[in-house]
Amino acid sequence: QDDKFKKVISHAKEYGYVFQSSEIYDGLSAVYDYAQNGAELKKNIRDYWWKAMVQMNENIVGIDAAIFMHPTTWKASGHVDAFNDPLIDNKDSKKRYRADVLVEDYCAKIEAKINKEVAKAAKRFGESFNKEEFVSTNGRVLGYQEKIKTTLSRMAKSLESEDLADVKALIEELEIADPLTGSKNWTDVKQFNLMFGTKLGASAESAMDLYLRPETAQGIFVNFLNVQKTGRMKIPFGIAQTGKAFRNEIVARQFIFRMREFEQMEMQFFIKPGTQKKWYKHWKEHRMKWHLSLGMGADNYRFHDHEKLAHYADAASDIEFKFPFGFKELEGIHSRTDFDLKAHEEHSGKKLQYFDHEDNASYTPYVLETSIGLDRMFLAVFSNSLQEEALENGTTRTVFKLPSVLAPVKAAILPLVKKDGLPEVARKIVDELKWDFNVIYDEKDAVGRRYRRQDANGTPFCITVDHDTLEDNMVTIRHRDTMEQQRVKIEDLRNIIKEEVDV
Ligand code: GAP
Repeated sequence: QDDKFKKVISHAKEYGYVFQSSEIYDGLSAVYDYAQNGAELKKNIRDYWWKAMVQMNENIVGIDAAIFMHPTTWKASGHVDAFNDPLIDNKDSKKRYRADVLVEDYCAKIEAKINKEVAKAAKRFGESFNKEEFVSTNGRVLGYQEKIKTTLSRMAKSLESEDLADVKALIEELEIADPLTGSKNWTDVKQFNLMFGTKLGASAESAMDLYLRPETAQGIFVNFLNVQKTGRMKIPFGIAQTGKAFRNEIVARQFIFRMREFEQMEMQFFIKPGTQKKWYKHWKEHRMKWHLSLGMGADNYRFHDHEKLAHYADAASDIEFKFPFGFKELEGIHSRTDFDLKAHEEHSGKKLQYFDHEDNASYTPYVLETSIGLDRMFLAVFSNSLQEEALENGTTRTVFKLPSVLAPVKAAILPLVKKDGLPEVARKIVDELKWDFNVIYDEKDAVGRRYRRQDANGTPFCITVDHDTLEDNMVTIRHRDTMEQQRVKIEDLRNIIKEEVDV
């Protein structure tokens, strides 16, 4: 799995998807730039989300709020007081870690032991091996499972009750060592606020302390009444937005999975108090459907209902995805009650209420939130699509099976040779198709190598112009996944591509 992840990272660089930020200065940790193909893929994921959430729902509208917000916003939202990570330092190595991540990594190691036992047994029993039966009857595996369960639930309870001494005690009892040096000499666990601070204003006296927003959601809450009134929105209704968020993550690793500057796609759905259970269920199902619509395999997703709730939620569930390093959170669905609107009413002194004509009464709405990291979705799509395929002739090909709707380049137009008028015909096809799709022209190298290059870049179609084209106005269209080739009329290309790449 480590190998797979390394391949993902090097492919992202080699094919112009993701670069380390400021690479010529040796980079900046947990900050990344999207390159020529990455920017297209990211935009296509964002558009796919926006279309499903805003365009397809009459009662959801989109906004684009500023990154800077009045600093009281973050007092009201609870982020100043409660948006913390529990940190622990190793006294010998002077390295800093997230205490909960150390514990999670410990559990991941036990999980690896379970997998090893299963693999060993599968080899021993051959065809007659039944995984479920083995897992439910093997004493050692059951013991490992129990250990993971008790460890994670104790950590969740300690964090929830802010019992940091117990988190430290847990680390000591489990004899967790510094992963780099092996030292078990730990400091106490301390809370560390994740927000980045900055200043607005020129002079030292008048400057105002600001934060870079750690979530886009608050830009929606503070605009709730403006949008409701100007859009004449009736409850239930939603406000969606996509945009940058910033967190001073301590454990910054796993490529674009956990970044310090990242993008969120969030939607707050405003509902009548008391209906939150129904809407929680509705949005959990809806968001899972959205994921499955991309065809990346139902086995790669699972729900994880939370025991430990964030300071604002009365129920929360993650949609987890099977990344190369295991199942991890991709999206959160949170029942946020009236926590945020009430807090903003209190701190701003302004009413944020809705007048319900049916009930002839005013109330502060409850909120159901769906929140997905765009970069994380990018990594999910990227790692799942990158495949090595053994071919009949004994060679392998790297094929990047991106969902066609998300692929950065929809078709590559290739003249078979660089002469005899073929480039001119190919250029003409590019000029016609580029109004509707992102297409490219490529004449370099033998056509087979050009096909492979496009396979590895995720391009769903290659269109080849050959000498017969000059006679019959037909071209060869090659499908990335099946490698099948068809002879089609130039005038039909637009519809063939459209059918495949349109949602
Ligand atoms: N408004 C709710 C909220 O922000 P969250 O669970 O903290 O909830 C939502 O974040 C999503 O944002 C996560 O599921 C994840 O996909 C993404 N996300 C959070 N922190 C991130 C980070 N440091 N790097 C990349 N994505 C992140």
